[in-house]
Amino acid sequence: MDVCVVNGENAADGAGITGKLADKLLAAGADVVTLGNHTYRRGGIGDYLAASERVIRPANQGVFTPGRGLAVVEARNGVRVAVLSLLGHLFLDTPQSPWEVVDALVEEARALAPVVLVDFHAEATSEKTALAHWLDGRVTAVIGTHTHVQTNDARVLRGGTAAVTDAGMTGPHDSVIGVKAELAIARMRMRLPVRFEPAEGGVRLEGVVVDCSDDGRAHGIELLRVPA
Ligand SMILES: [Fe+2]
Repeated sequence: MDVCVVNGENAADGAGITGKLADKLLAAGADVVTLGNHTYRRGGIGDYLAASERVIRPANQGVFTPGRGLAVVEARNGVRVAVLSLLGHLFLDTPQSPWEVVDALVEEARALAPVVLVDFHAEATSEKTALAHWLDGRVTAVIGTHTHVQTNDARVLRGGTAAVTDAGMTGPHDSVIGVKAELAIARMRMRLPVRFEPAEGGVRLEGVVVDCSDDGRAHGIELLRVPA
């Protein structure tokens, strides 16, 4: 089976995403685009999300925000794959704790598809690791996003769930998580408002490849880095 999921929350010059860019990612081969805490940074994206079935925002983003948090697509071999997006609670301004909603959402996803992928968009390594363990044996993979730095802990847990704390960033790595280093440093050092701009150097594609069987059990997970 083959399915490609892309976290595209900062595809628009490092802040949010537009409908046009989301369409571009889908046209380039993404089956599902997930988002995160910067989902609504760009005008018009709310209407786009309200109408989209394959571009999803975190399910615990609040009950009044447009869009959905769960997508179901078919893999190349016809197996259904559910993708669930959730925001972490620690160190993020998240409307609803992921722990309050995750069990019902996973049950809903499992009723729709044997393969379930959770994009857990969260700041803290502890929270991402904890959710992976909580869902072990119930979902195919818990993939962490948001912190932009690929972590060296990709593994399959005892119950058959693949997990990694952060899949990394596709973008300019000669930067502070995508931003021109001097601008990020100026904001931190001087504590003055500085307008961030995306950096340009060291562009790299990062992600993970999860290998699973059609019943949803993961057998392997590999970090992807191009160029290495
Ligand atoms: Fe984020």
